[in-house]
Amino acid sequence: GKTIFSGIQPTGVPHLGNYLGALRQWVKLQDEAGSDDRMLYCVVDLHAVTMPQDPRALIKSTMETYASLIAIGLDPKRSVIFSQQDVLEHTQLMWLLSCHASMGYLGRMTQWKSKSGMADDANPMEASAPNKPALKLGLFSYPVLQAADILLYRTTHVPVGEDQAQHLEFARELANSMNHTYCRATPPSQTPWEGFPLPQTILSPAKRIMSLQDPAKKMSKSDPDPRSRILITDSADVIEKKIRHALTDSIQGVSYDRELRPGVSNLIDIMYYMDESKYTSVEQIVDGMSGANVTMKTMKNQVAKSIVECLAPIRERYFEIMARRPEDVAEEMREGAVVAGRRARSTLDRLKEAMGLRRPD
Ligand code: TYM
Repeated sequence: GKTIFSGIQPTGVPHLGNYLGALRQWVKLQDEAGSDDRMLYCVVDLHAVTMPQDPRALIKSTMETYASLIAIGLDPKRSVIFSQQDVLEHTQLMWLLSCHASMGYLGRMTQWKSKSGMADDANPMEASAPNKPALKLGLFSYPVLQAADILLYRTTHVPVGEDQAQHLEFARELANSMNHTYCRATPPSQTPWEGFPLPQTILSPAKRIMSLQDPAKKMSKSDPDPRSRILITDSADVIEKKIRHALTDSIQGVSYDRELRPGVSNLIDIMYYMDESKYTSVEQIVDGMSGANVTMKTMKNQVAKSIVECLAPIRERYFEIMARRPEDVAEEMREGAVVAGRRARSTLDRLKEAMGLRRPD
């Protein structure tokens, strides 16, 4: 069977980029899974603290992210849904992987370069400029923890958006290097280690949803302008307003061209991916609109309508879950961690044995 793993940062309610680029795929994989497939979905709170966080806000937004995962249709009876810090093995495996992770490779990661504010050719080993905050090891080794998340469950498939592809490539590289080193070594038990499966990336068709305010940038939680993104629990009013203010262009009518008309094309993409079953293709939407001489205003109304319709049931379920006692929701998360922990321990025990770190029971 397949083992599917993916993670999301506890940034509160996810936006449409998260939803169309990854989360909806998680639900689809769950609903199509065979009886010998397993799904694990993780709220990565340990990754969150690589950037400054307000402790009270972090607890709240972790709960909101978890509630969102349930609201979109993930079912704790079929998928293991849990928080990263509840399974201590993530950080243990991270250490073992760290001893094999290449500093040079980590230094080339786009996320590190953008979040650390490092120039492309800067050397992370050099002290940072006196007027800049010190570069942090946790941010630098972020991809090692991510690799540990994935490899800990002997994952075969990882559904993510395009911005995570580089981190997954790094995880495969690390798995390869571990396999190469330890599959041959003869452990005290005489049973050679079976190694990590190499996890495949699953990109959803909507792999990159762009900002509503600047279609050259991806839709992102860290954008200071809240109008740049739609949250999956936004009300109809808010959605209509954000789409009305979305940056487009002054070309007449509706047409699709990602280079020339990135704003309009992003809106059409969103409309298409919100409910793919309604249309055969993006062209069908565009042809229909340009045939009817639809104005930008009318197009935006239609885009907003399709988002509102699709998100309405999610929004309703989200508020139902948030109305539950927080203790009960937290308990449900811990139950997920118990199941995840069992699989995590069996992977870690076998690896430690191969590395000579496990004494006889
Ligand atoms: P995060 O929390 O930034 O995003 C969660 C998922 O949403 C996708 N995504 C997008 N897809 C399309 N268009 C966008 N504008 C867009 N913005 C976000 C992301 O690609 C991601 O799939 N490092 C990860 C979390 C993580 C993880 C893991 C993922 C930790 N460990 C192990 C997979 C496997 C992150 O920060 O995702």
